[in-house]
Amino acid sequence: MPSLDFITGKALFEKNWVPSFSSTTASDGLGPFYNARSCNQCHPDGGRGSREQSLVLHVNDPVYGQQLQKYAMAGLQREAEVSFVFADVNNAGKPSAPTIEVNNLSRGVMTNAALSARIAPSLQGLGLLARIPDDLILAMADAADSNGDGVSGRVNMISDNAGVGSIGRFGWKAGQVSLRDQLARALSLDLGLGNPVFPSAAGDCTSVQVDCLNAPHGNSSHHDNLETNNQVLDLLLSYVSGLPAPSKTSQGASQESAGAALFQQSGCAGCHVPSLESGDFRLSAYTDLLLHDMGPGLADNLSEGSALGSEWRTPPLWGLGSLQRQLLHDGRATTIEEAVWWHDGEGAAARDHYGNLSQQQRNDLNAFLNGL
Ligand code: HEC
Ligand code: HEC
Repeated sequence: MPSLDFITGKALFEKNWVPSFSSTTASDGLGPFYNARSCNQCHPDGGRGSREQSLVLHVNDPVYGQQLQKYAMAGLQREAEVSFVFADVNNAGKPSAPTIEVNNLSRGVMTNAALSARIAPSLQGLGLLARIPDDLILAMADAADSNGDGVSGRVNMISDNAGVGSIGRFGWKAGQVSLRDQLARALSLDLGLGNPVFPSAAGDCTSVQVDCLNAPHGNSSHHDNLETNNQVLDLLLSYVSGLPAPSKTSQGASQESAGAALFQQSGCAGCHVPSLESGDFRLSAYTDLLLHDMGPGLADNLSEGSALGSEWRTPPLWGLGSLQRQLLHDGRATTIEEAVWWHDGEGAAARDHYGNLSQQQRNDLNAFLNGL
């Protein structure tokens, strides 16, 4: 039986928030800028979002802030028109990266032109990733590639205001240390809802977006003079951290064991680590939670914490078979083959190994992956 907090948290996750229309009658406080009305629009039932609904554009610009939000509340000009164009293959017959189109920037050009599109990941099993002991993650890091295998994962160490570093685990670049912070960020940036961690009711408005700063807000005495209080954050956390890991589906024992062996032989397991163990702790998530340089084709040229433009956190592969086929950080790959094709940099050797497998071997490996 799910707990009452889980159920109430789920309702908040699915709730469609509404903007406040005047500064005197408080309502929910969606916006001023926002990307969606609910968490669930981007993470349907806690799963991975679609390209159509859930892509978020990170920018980090002094005028536009950390994201270009798609929507603005009534009476406020939206930041820009953003669209993502996916072509299945480019004119050389290879998979192509999405084109990001930014039109009608409402407040002048951007100083920092780096754009990073991110698709909403599945939230299943995140409570378990949160519990991986720090020591285990640190022990897998090999920043200088001392074992010479071409794979040199490193931790995204995030410093707090006092300069104390903690291991980043969440987000495509492991830029967030805790689930609670990640949720608070989603409330502030994606929905424009102030909360105890990011109290501003104006979300991602910067100091020069005066019209946005002056927009009506939903701060209310019922919510400790914020738009959402600790209780909301705690309930959302109960829901997200209570979402179970995806369950394995059987693909037939012989194909599975052949596929598992090929996964090792191809070097996939160097980053998508099949099993994490320490004392009583045991988890099969197929990730090391470390950053890897994946080469220029995947690079977004936007750093985050200590992660560079070409570095991404190894995503867990559990549940791969049930993901909508919108793989990699911006959903550009529609098959496992395509996702592997994009692996470069530290992933190049594994990609080449995979490319040289026979059709039968690749079928076995894909069947194994689809069952995780
Ligand atoms: C507009 C779409 C959108 C909305 C709305 C949204 N998210 Fe997300 N979410 C994302 C994207 C994109 C990422 C990946 C972010 C990154 O890489 O920086 C993400 C990441 C996350 C993560 C970390 C996942 C991981 O694998 O590390 C959590 C947890 C999360 N969101 C929870 C929420 C909650 C709770 C809400 C509602 C308060 C919410 N999100 C609203 C798009 C969205
Ligand atoms: C050097 C580390 C590394 C190796 C080796 C590696 N991967 Fe990955 N893998 C990653 C990273 C990092 C990403 C995310 C890249 C991005 O989103 O831009 C990824 C993404 C993926 C995805 C998409 C997952 C998702 O949630 O969208 C699949 C599928 C995948 N890898 C399969 C494989 C297979 C199969 C192999 C072996 C042939 C392999 N990987 C080898 C690091 C690695």
